[in-house]
Amino acid sequence: MKILVKLGDLFGAERLIPIESAHISGVSYKTIGDAVEFLEALAEAGAKSKVRSTMNPAGIDYSNLEEMVRLPELHERQMRIIEIYKGMGITPILTCTPYYIRKPRENAHLAWAESSTVIYANSVLHSWTNREGGPSALAAALIGKTPNYGVHNPENRQANILVKVEADLRDYADFGALGIHVGKILRDETPCFEGLPGSEETCLKHLGAALASSGMTSLFYPCVSCPKSSDHLEKISVDPDDLKEAFESLSTTNESPDMIYFGCPHCSFEELRQIALKIRGRRVKDDVKLWVCTSRHVRRRAEDYVRVIEAAGGKVISDTCAVVTWLKEIGIDVLMTNSAKTAYYAPTMNKVETVFRSLDQCIEAACKE
Ligand code: F3S
Repeated sequence: MKILVKLGDLFGAERLIPIESAHISGVSYKTIGDAVEFLEALAEAGAKSKVRSTMNPAGIDYSNLEEMVRLPELHERQMRIIEIYKGMGITPILTCTPYYIRKPRENAHLAWAESSTVIYANSVLHSWTNREGGPSALAAALIGKTPNYGVHNPENRQANILVKVEADLRDYADFGALGIHVGKILRDETPCFEGLPGSEETCLKHLGAALASSGMTSLFYPCVSCPKSSDHLEKISVDPDDLKEAFESLSTTNESPDMIYFGCPHCSFEELRQIALKIRGRRVKDDVKLWVCTSRHVRRRAEDYVRVIEAAGGKVISDTCAVVTWLKEIGIDVLMTNSAKTAYYAPTMNKVETVFRSLDQCIEAACKE
């Protein structure tokens, strides 16, 4: 209650409002470290979630241990964190795409952490959630309520800047580069994008995840839902040079990668399908790891595609991702990805070099002739 009241006071909320669900970040031992003592104290005091609550990815995929860091003490500590959350009634879906398992209702109030999940919920699913941190999402789960400020109020959900896209977007990576560029320019404005080539949900997922990485945005409008009259809005435009510059900023080296990575945010069924179709009949190079991260739920649904990817020598990993697991410790120095969010964070979070490329270029780099 103290966390929620303090937050409400800080942002001028008048009351707490009930939430439909909470999504908790701060699950990977790599990212929360010794904050586990705080969780233990809550659990010992009998904390229990009041609403449907789910967990973001952890640091280990226990069903693919041969791919993971080989330090038993990290495995044990990670498992302890998951057990504590489970004891509080939080479901271990261990994914940042909980909406592929169950979509929240339109206009439902939520308390979700994980910025890519938040921006997708607000912009694509039309649910209402502030960008919670791990502790405030957990507090909201335990109380079943959140303070009524920010995008829980309709007046704060208006678009206030028009982004004219004058560059060609052909690949998920292009949407990610656009998000990184615009996120850096915006403060906490809500952008409306004009000129997007359609509104395929996976493209919007990559755009949103990137926007929320380089900036503080938690809501955007794709062209189809832009306000009818945008004359009063501030305007910016994005041209091909801007996109090229964003692309270049996301690569720190030209060296050959030792890991090719798809799945930030966790892959959709459609992404697994595309990867499988492109890799069918090919073979991953012996000195390269190919990781495709997704939720266990999507993995099960797409098992035919999983089989194709694994037959080619790739690994379909669940419950974790490249950013929240230990990469250096498994020998990765150079990571190639089509995810702008991973390329943005991995140099600092994982201390690896990055190469940011399209899906096709990543597949080419992963496979033998
Ligand atoms: Fe998800 Fe990991 Fe990216 S939690 S959004 S795959 S950094």
